[in-house]
Amino acid sequence: MGAMAKRKLRPRSKILGRTSKVTKSMCKMLVSPSRNPVRKQPLEAQIKFHNLPVKPRQLGRKLREHTKKGTRYLCAFIEKIITEKNHKDRNDKDGDNTDADLKDCVLKPDDITTTYDDVYISSDTIKALEDLTLSIQHPSSFTFGILSSHSPPGLLLYGSPGTGKSLIIGAFAKQAQLTFLALSETDFESALVDKGAKKIKRIFAYARKHHPCAVFIDRAGSIFRSRSVVGNSPSHLHNINSFLEEMGATTRSNTRNPMVIAATNKPFDIDDEVFRHLGRRIMVDTPDRAAREQILKIHLRGETIADEVLSELADTTPDYTGSELKDLVWTAAAIALRESALQKGKWKAPEGSENIYRVLYKAHFEEAKKQIRSSSRYTVEKLREFHFKFGNVVQRNTESDGGV
Ligand SMILES: Nc1ncnc2c1ncn2[C@@H]1O[C@H](COP(=O)(O)OP(=O)(O)OP(=O)(O)O)[C@@H](O)[C@H]1O
Ligand SMILES: [Mg+2]
Repeated sequence: MGAMAKRKLRPRSKILGRTSKVTKSMCKMLVSPSRNPVRKQPLEAQIKFHNLPVKPRQLGRKLREHTKKGTRYLCAFIEKIITEKNHKDRNDKDGDNTDADLKDCVLKPDDITTTYDDVYISSDTIKALEDLTLSIQHPSSFTFGILSSHSPPGLLLYGSPGTGKSLIIGAFAKQAQLTFLALSETDFESALVDKGAKKIKRIFAYARKHHPCAVFIDRAGSIFRSRSVVGNSPSHLHNINSFLEEMGATTRSNTRNPMVIAATNKPFDIDDEVFRHLGRRIMVDTPDRAAREQILKIHLRGETIADEVLSELADTTPDYTGSELKDLVWTAAAIALRESALQKGKWKAPEGSENIYRVLYKAHFEEAKKQIRSSSRYTVEKLREFHFKFGNVVQRNTESDGGV
């Protein structure tokens, strides 16, 4: 008898998800005094026991109505709520799978380590980037006028390799506390025709669900190269169409739209229609003198440098990109270390952990300059020409750059 009671009182937690036939016996369980061991308990306890996705008041009403309308009526109700619950579970599961699929593209603000302190960004560039987040800062101002009916235009950063485009976007996402969804070339390298196109759709869907987000497309010149170029694969056309569709949806007002930011070294290669959707165009030029000094300061943090080195170095590195300046500082530090290690006869420290103090002199940078040379001169002219025709903001004040 005791064993029987124990068996009956085991909650029917597995009942959901079975076929509708279950509901008939389930209804009998609910209404029959002999088969429902918790029938006399409060409705909350009954719901928990039978693992039903209903509110107590809803179930109470149905149980009362059952006496008039019969078991079939109660069955239909239970079947409906079970089907709805299963459907919702399946959708949630699919949604989670999609999110899991995208985990290699998603970067939360806490995962981003670059801050505005680690990158030189001109105030004009910061302003253009911040315009994208105005709707987060001032939501009520986006309830009327053009700001309410149109999303901000997409933003395109272009410049020679190593001018800091990716770094700038990372620091901006961190500053604005945006979730960052990065699409890169590898997402489109597949034999499957619509793999890239589907990824674009999933990325935008994710971004709308997890607002506020920024969708970042690096190497846009190659991902969205012009459709008029001969030899494009069918998947390339699919990718562009899918992107244009999403951008079309983004331009229509929806406060949960993602910000769209693209970067490239080759803006002239981008498909015309894609280019049209990237209306804010910022050229990240090679840094001018003042910017070079700022970038050098960032990379010289923690190093000891002789007087005047910084200023002279900023004067004598025209056409160096941020990346080349970083390499220059690294090489000078390595040369200084090698020199002091050799002077002390400690090329190989016994424990391999001894700190050898170093000071970076002008001579170290002169030596480093022979190894790290500027390579942007040829590409930058073409980019400036392009910017003159199509661009809006430039991260450099060329006129202020006195010279060599
Ligand atoms: N403005 C800058 N301030 C500080 N460091 C910079 C700056 N620009 C470039 N750097 C240095 O150069 C490295 C490369 O920069 P980044 O990858 O952002 O360049 P990029 O323009 O995206 O290049 P690519 O076109 O090849 O993708 C950075 O990790 C950083 O060390
Ligand atoms: Mg980059």
